[in-house]
Amino acid sequence: MIVIRDLWKSYPMGKLSVDALKGISLELTKGDFVSVAGPSGSGKTTLMNIIGLIDTPSHGSVCIDGKDAGGLRRRELTRIRQENIGFVFQSFNLLPVLTVFENVELPLTIAQKRTTRAERRERVKFLLEEVGLWDRKTHKPSELSGGQQQRVAIARALVTRPKIVIADEPTANLDSANGERVLELMKKINREEGTTFIFSTHDPDIWEMANHIVFLKDGIIESERRL
Ligand SMILES: Nc1ncnc2c1ncn2[C@@H]1O[C@H](COP(=O)(O)OP(=O)(O)OP(=O)(O)O)[C@@H](O)[C@H]1O
Ligand SMILES: [Mg+2]
Repeated sequence: MIVIRDLWKSYPMGKLSVDALKGISLELTKGDFVSVAGPSGSGKTTLMNIIGLIDTPSHGSVCIDGKDAGGLRRRELTRIRQENIGFVFQSFNLLPVLTVFENVELPLTIAQKRTTRAERRERVKFLLEEVGLWDRKTHKPSELSGGQQQRVAIARALVTRPKIVIADEPTANLDSANGERVLELMKKINREEGTTFIFSTHDPDIWEMANHIVFLKDGIIESERRL
């Protein structure tokens, strides 16, 4: 469902440029639990941002469900992203002035303007119960632990029922117990709702939970494993 062909990304650096990705080709299957593994600087974030349509490649193509992202206008890209892709960031990125409930509800308000308040509340409640934080719905993010904030971020990423969730090092700021809990939650949603997950990590315990592991090194795919 996601087909990537010969992806290159260079960043300008004065008169020179850095090649962050150097010819990545990859096929990701619907419903997979994919891990992008590799050391710092190997290109994980760059690759995930391009797959998630928040960055564009210097060369090469990303096709999602047969649609080539390169041929689309910015407005169309934004629409596809809002309707199909959820993001979980390393540093949670919750809005500090909003409550837990409001943080999770926000993408739905933006992407699906026709939903009623009751429909939104039902979806937010379902997800906050799923991540075990419904009783914290009126709290601000700063009143939660890191692991709890990341679970809120996962609920937020799922609220629009995206086909794909992209999580860039979702466990990097968590201790190992909380990290595993977050991964277990992602795995459960992957199993039960068929949502495709693509997450990056440099932690072997975490990448082993994937059924498709892509090892990056210096902007190329060093190896790949499907289970
Ligand atoms: N905006 C930018 N401008 C210039 N160089 C960049 C930029 N973003 C990334 N790079 C470079 O591209 C390469 C890949 O970076 P990237 O952030 O994708 O790696 P990463 O695997 O996500 O690393 P980490 O594990 O530290 O998050 C690195 O050499 C980095 O310095
Ligand atoms: Mg990164």
